[in-house]
Amino acid sequence: MNPSHTLNVDSIRSTLATKVLGRRIELFKQLPSTNLEATTLGESGVEHGTVVIADRQTAGRGRLARTWFSPGGTNIHCSLVLRCELPANRLSEWLSWLPLITALAAAEAIQSVTSVPVSLKWPNDLLLSDRKVGGVLCENVQASPSGPFQIIGIGINVNTRPEDFPAELRASATSLWNQTHTVVDRNRLIAQLLLELEQCIEELAEHGSQQLALAYQRRCATIGRKVQASLADGSELTGYAESISQDGSLRISALSGSRSNTTIEVRAADIVHLRS
Ligand code: BTN
Repeated sequence: MNPSHTLNVDSIRSTLATKVLGRRIELFKQLPSTNLEATTLGESGVEHGTVVIADRQTAGRGRLARTWFSPGGTNIHCSLVLRCELPANRLSEWLSWLPLITALAAAEAIQSVTSVPVSLKWPNDLLLSDRKVGGVLCENVQASPSGPFQIIGIGINVNTRPEDFPAELRASATSLWNQTHTVVDRNRLIAQLLLELEQCIEELAEHGSQQLALAYQRRCATIGRKVQASLADGSELTGYAESISQDGSLRISALSGSRSNTTIEVRAADIVHLRS
């Protein structure tokens, strides 16, 4: 591997322009999961903005209890510990929007570093040519001796070659390399990701979700699409995705079943984009 493309804290710092995120960076060759390690560090009281990065994960976690493909030497697997002091009446907005603005920040960072236009699938998948190039897993830890904190986990398929994906992911996953055919410097991309994320977090904390919601909607490929939503209660819903609500829910105009012609606000679901 070209040494300039090896993950390295000094290389990340050489372009890092954040105020707080990444003041402490913990880089590992291998971890079970950066979210797990960040949670352990959060419980032991590490400061706001601590970043955990692993070159490879052996038990990377995805949404909906899935696993996350995390090979060594090619991708970004990173988690942040956030301790934001917010009034109790803003916690719900904060927790709902955190995963969405993280996906937005990751898409902006990728575009800024590689010029590749990444879109979003609600709530927090990163898409390239309708295939998944990255994902976000946020976890809220309320009951901790060190006080409540949130973990933001981000996975981006950066330099993985198509043939290196497991067979079951080849049709649905992609990487930045697949689009650009050039090796992307992960250190540079991590530094930009932290900057974009810091700016989004500041905006959410200081001004709320209004402007972020507009930026999210502009990038969101789900809006206007015919979708199938698998809901948390096991039921399924087909319809047209209309917009994002103020609380980050997806508004779907239902096409099928007893809910036909009604608009449903979905807070948590697995979405599939259908052909119209
Ligand atoms: C998804 O299923 O779309 C979310 C994937 C999130 C993967 C990242 S990789 C870094 C962090 N550590 C984990 O174990 N998961 C997240």
